[in-house]
Amino acid sequence: MQETVRELFSFIEESPSVFHVVENMRRELLGRGYGQLLESEPWELKAGGKYFVIRNGSSLISFRIPREDYKGFQIMASHCDSPTFKIKENPQMEAEGVYVRLNVEKYGGALLAPWFDRPLSVAGRVLVRKNVAEEQGRIVSKLVDIDRDLLLIPSLAIHMNREANDGYKYNVQKDLIPLYGMDLDKETFMEQISGAAGVCAKDVVGYDLFLYNRVKGSVWGAKEEFISSGKLDDLQCVFASLKGFLQSEERVGESVPVHCVFDNEEVGSSTRQGAASTFLQDTLVRVNEAMGRSSGDYRRSLSQSFMLSADNAHAVHPNYPDKACPTNRPKMNGGIVIKYNAEQRYTTDGVAAALFKDLCGRANVPWQTFHNRSDERGGSTLGNLSGNQVAVKCVDIGLAQLAMHSPYETAGAADTDYLVRAAKAFYEMSVDEPEYGVVECSSSFNSRITAK
Ligand code: CO
Repeated sequence: MQETVRELFSFIEESPSVFHVVENMRRELLGRGYGQLLESEPWELKAGGKYFVIRNGSSLISFRIPREDYKGFQIMASHCDSPTFKIKENPQMEAEGVYVRLNVEKYGGALLAPWFDRPLSVAGRVLVRKNVAEEQGRIVSKLVDIDRDLLLIPSLAIHMNREANDGYKYNVQKDLIPLYGMDLDKETFMEQISGAAGVCAKDVVGYDLFLYNRVKGSVWGAKEEFISSGKLDDLQCVFASLKGFLQSEERVGESVPVHCVFDNEEVGSSTRQGAASTFLQDTLVRVNEAMGRSSGDYRRSLSQSFMLSADNAHAVHPNYPDKACPTNRPKMNGGIVIKYNAEQRYTTDGVAAALFKDLCGRANVPWQTFHNRSDERGGSTLGNLSGNQVAVKCVDIGLAQLAMHSPYETAGAADTDYLVRAAKAFYEMSVDEPEYGVVECSSSFNSRITAK
């Protein structure tokens, strides 16, 4: 197995919830000398310093201040959440007087069928009231991961629904309720969760707990062309962009390298920590202030900034080739996908695409293009949402994959490396390099205007 794929799989396996993704990144950044900033404290930043800030324990922005005065921001964004099921309050539900199930609700636009008949577990965070004398009443957040096969959603046998293979409309409240145990106390689940967090059940005053698929990542195919794992959308981009960001430390350009990972993309991003929130804007404004720059300087910086919004893309499905655009047909292992949409659900335009293709050329990374079929609506992503708060030139990209939003997705074994290389090259370049800063027009109309 390639080293990058091995690292990607361990990153995903150690990240069973969004809170774990952010905690893993936090540890990595601390280990590399990044200082953690708190939104509730004043920020003192130094030229040459490396920092990060976390909001809600589930979104993280890291950045480095250049030694010299800087021009703009080089931003790369991806998302850490994936479609899943969230454990409701009062979760235990009995059936037939002996079985105990857990009551869940859907998070994001999951493909439901692949959630059946596979081992599942629970991870997330619990909020705990501290009872130590000096900390009386203080509430702290603790990560929890049961980390063993715990639950399963069993299918109904074909004999009891002969039409099961003719298409079935799933009802989340009836069909997707996981089986948990038999003959249990009312409090068993919360006791198990609090035990895993190392606290007393009575001290747990809140939680955000999610199901996750226990099947580990796999490399497969005649020549090991393919990888499959949970959460490739979008942890493949989170992992690759972080690796490129960290590798780029050697060469500091004339802009501030900014690495963003946002929660809640799968539910529309409109939360306090989502891509549509003020998190990125607040962070960039505070960097600007802490470096003693004016609001005019901030606006000049934005005009010289560039953003890569990295979220996985659809490869042409070999069994459904008719579902793809006739002339833009991404393949797994074909390089980074540039995503286009005329109505700007993706931010890419001709200029941004030209800049990104040039970047790929310099990094020696292949690229390909994606449009939806003109009669399909398709999905949306981060770029146009963060653009509402921080209006910078942006290109939407991703890695080609199949089975998006299944709990076990498939992608190309070579592509993660391409994104690591492109991210590294992106963070090492300067926005004011002529080929990135100048848009020359050669039409006679434009030359007439400039001539006056
Ligand atoms: Co995504």
